[in-house]
Amino acid sequence: MFIRKNRPWQSREADVTPKGLYLNRRSIIASGGALALTGLAGCEAQSGGSSTAQAPAATGTRPTSGALDYRATDYTVADPQTPYPAVTGYNNFYEFGIGKDEPARYAGAMTTDPWSIEVEGHAGRTGRFALEDVVDFTNLEERIYRLRCVEAWSMVVPWVGVPLSRVLASFEPTSDARYIQFETHLDRDEMRGTRYRVLDWPYVEGLRMDEAMNELAFLAVGLYGEVLPNQNGAPVRLVVPWKYGYKSIKSISRIRFVSEQPDTSWNLSAPHEYGFYSNVNPNRAHPRWSQSSERVIGGNVFARRDTEMFNGYSEQVAHMYAGMDLIENH
Ligand code: MTE
Repeated sequence: MFIRKNRPWQSREADVTPKGLYLNRRSIIASGGALALTGLAGCEAQSGGSSTAQAPAATGTRPTSGALDYRATDYTVADPQTPYPAVTGYNNFYEFGIGKDEPARYAGAMTTDPWSIEVEGHAGRTGRFALEDVVDFTNLEERIYRLRCVEAWSMVVPWVGVPLSRVLASFEPTSDARYIQFETHLDRDEMRGTRYRVLDWPYVEGLRMDEAMNELAFLAVGLYGEVLPNQNGAPVRLVVPWKYGYKSIKSISRIRFVSEQPDTSWNLSAPHEYGFYSNVNPNRAHPRWSQSSERVIGGNVFARRDTEMFNGYSEQVAHMYAGMDLIENH
């Protein structure tokens, strides 16, 4: 395993971005029903796996640009939404480079249509599914969530998508599916950042099954009412708002239902720094910096806020970790 001593995303923004761009971006920014786990038994396969089966959510069509149809929900945050230029111009998507501006510059090279997701493992319905047969684009909703990056900055983003639980249930996971692993698409020609072994590509992430079925876990296909820009993880990415942003894996092309805790990219890379759980926790400092507060992207350059336990989502998620030592299980 390749280990970098000083990981780029652990540098200050000014260290990894040319100064002109950095200052320029700053001025742009300145202006500017979940199924319970117990319910899973009821989802167990009646039929065997199939490589041609259609997921029940299928509608067969999806917009690939422009506005989406969606409905508002009560999932919102009291603070202002981060301006669109910051949400789509200040990104982490290492497959396109380590600079915050590189995904916006280079992710346009990624082909997102057609797009399919390979579903493997302990589920009744497995095989390769077209995205439009996985996500029902006639039944989208908006969730306004805070995204807290492990680098100690945060944004408030209006995502459009579907509850992850709905999609996962459609694959009829069996009781052996205790965890889920997600994998990002890998195309070395289109993803220039994968020429560098910053991480062991493809990018992988994972959740415990009950976490994946939590009401907050979301599969986003859009933001600000429009189809997801490539730099934000088009055409489909995870959003897990109570965990550090790196759990919210982009451009998903594979889902595995597994029985053991799966590998995750940053944990493989630096296990003492990045755990499997990665719940936002102001009481556990990163080995090299505090996590007690965060820089607010998109507002005043000096704007900061105190980081909240589980990123402010304790009411919905704390019960899943009852009795666990969250410093040990970071
Ligand atoms: N997914 C992939 N495949 N590659 C990445 O480099 N970066 C993660 C996460 N998902 C990343 C990824 C990190 S560190 C963060 S903070 C969020 O994406 C950033 O999402 P955003 O660029 O939409 O704000």
